This record gives sequence, C-alpha cells and structure tokens, in this order.
Amino acid sequence: MSKPVWFITGATRGLGAAVTAAALRAGYHVVATGRDVDRVAQSSSDRLLTLALDITDGAAATAAVAAARQRFGRIDVLVNNAGFAQLGAFETIPDAAVRAQFETNVFGTMNVTRAVLPGMRAQRSGRIFNLSSMAGYIGGTHYAVYAASKFAVEGFSESLAAELLPFGIFVTLVEPGFFRTDFLTTSARFGSSTIADYETTTIANRAQLDARHRDAAGDPAKFADVLITLGRSPAPPVRCTIGADAITAIERTNAAVQAEIDRWRDLCSLPADVEFTGAHEGRSSG
Ligand SMILES: NC(=O)c1ccc[n+]([C@@H]2O[C@H](COP(=O)([O-])OP(=O)(O)OC[C@H]3O[C@@H](n4cnc5c(N)ncnc54)[C@H](OP(=O)(O)O)[C@@H]3O)[C@@H](O)[C@H]2O)c1
Repeated sequence: MSKPVWFITGATRGLGAAVTAAALRAGYHVVATGRDVDRVAQSSSDRLLTLALDITDGAAATAAVAAARQRFGRIDVLVNNAGFAQLGAFETIPDAAVRAQFETNVFGTMNVTRAVLPGMRAQRSGRIFNLSSMAGYIGGTHYAVYAASKFAVEGFSESLAAELLPFGIFVTLVEPGFFRTDFLTTSARFGSSTIADYETTTIANRAQLDARHRDAAGDPAKFADVLITLGRSPAPPVRCTIGADAITAIERTNAAVQAEIDRWRDLCSLPADVEFTGAHEGRSSG
C-alpha cells in the first residue's frame, strides 16, 4: 500500500512543525501548511509539499486541499493543529477578541475539516486529529475564552467521530498537557483592559504560565511520535490525552464530576426515558 498522506495546519513552529518532521521521518507524504509559507518547515524531500494557509479563510482551505490532492492524489490524515490562546479574565477581553479566538480555533478547524471530508468519504477512509487541550475538558480562572473555544472543538469532534465512523473515518481529539512551544508566549493574547478586582489573579496567573512554559517537561518531538503511533492504530481513540500532567488533571476532574453527580443525584434524577448514545460508546479503542 502507498505511504499515507498527512495534511498539517500551523506547521510553521511548535507542535505542527514537530508533527511535520515526524511524518517525514516515518516516510509519509506530507502537506505542511502555514500562514507564512516561507516559515513552514523546509525539506529537500519530494514527499513534502508546503502551502500557504490561514485556516480562517474557507476558500483558501478548499484551494489548499485541492492542491494537496493534485500533488499526492488523496489525503489520509488531517492534523487540525493551528490555534492560539486568548487568555485573561473574561471581562477584560473585548467581543472582537472573543470572536477572533473562535474564528481560528473553532471555525478555522471546521473550514479545513469541511474541505477534506468529501475526499475522505469518497475513499471510505481517513483520520482527523483535532488539537484540543486540557482546557478543552477543564475550565479554569482566566481560561474562559480559550476554554470555550476548545470545548467547542471537543463537542464538534466527538459528534463528528460518531457521524463519520460508518465511512471508515476516525476522528480523534488530542488533548496535550504543557509542551515546550511558543504557545504561551508568542501565541498567547491577554485581556486588553485592566480591572482592579482581577489584578492579583492576573499577575499570579501570568507568572504561573510563564514558568509552566519555560519549565514544561513536554517535548514536542515525543508528542509527534505519539501522533504517528495513533495514526497507525487500527482503532484510534475518540479522545487522546497526551502528557502525564494532562492525564492527572483529567482523571481528577472525572472523579470530581462523578462525585458531584453522586452528591446531587437524589435531587436531580428526575424520571426520563430517552437514552443518549455518545461517540465513546460506539467505538472501542485499540
Ligand atoms: N503547547 C502546548 O502546551 C499546548 C497545550 C494544549 C494545546 N495546545 C494546542 O496545540 C496546537 C499547537 O500549539 P503549539 O503549542 O504548537 O503553539 P505555537 O508554537 O504557538 O504554534 C501555533 C501554530 O498555529 C499557527 N496559527 C495560528 N493561527 C493560525 C491561522 N489562523 N492559520 C494558520 N495557522 C495559524 C501558528 O502560525 P504562525 O507562525 O503564523 O503564528 C503556529 O504555526 C494549538 O491548537 C494549541 O491550542 C498546545
């Protein structure tokens, strides 16, 4: 069988650049895209195609996918990696900044997904990795806007996972912990106004983020290797939490959510007769 074709967004740096390098090392065909094509990882390999793509531009996503197909004939794996974090107390973030966060993290992810799906459906196979975050599962102080966007990615991806399984297309949510990239420095935006009530938490939070970024144990190359392994799995998971920090945080949250359900069960367990089946129930991980 011919080598798979990977299509990666946000490949100028960070996790996207690491996944590009790992996919090339694995011998795959790679379409690496970024807003500034000159900053996308270069290689002399004829297995690499670099393309300009700002994911907020739906027409550009369609054109990039068409160019990828023209060159390699198909796309087997889409990595929706491009994103940034709008952090800060909700009240300090203007409406336009909230919308910009959703334009990239949510609607951008949908743009590229929309562009690849007809081809994947026609070939009755494909894999989509959507980059979420611990903040796609757990909300926290000064994460209201970023977490809202990643929760949206989670709901989108989980639903899509169920919807596309009959066509042989696997959708996997990827939830990284803290990995050493420019994400919390170059890519993070903070609220633009100052509100005295939030000052202490803002300062504490920024200092904490800087330290987490600087000292993060998470190695992007190892993250990329996990994605390559998932790409080969015959039954990839609906959700993959990567990094011991993220696994611990999500396990603690799951336990706390269960404890809260138990604590309020008697009050809230009103009679109902509709069963809702989620994506996890339709898919066994392997
Ligand atoms: N690193 C972490 O600890 C961490 C943790 C949880 C989740 N994540 C998620 O992982 C993904 C990658 O983050 P990273 O750590 O690699 O961050 P990064 O080093 O800051 O890289 C972000 C990438 O996204 C690109 N990008 C942003 N907006 C874009 C747009 N509109 N169109 C195309 N590309 C765009 C950037 O391009 P430019 O170079 O042009 O700016 C860059 O290539 C993100 O979705 C992030 O939410 C990261």
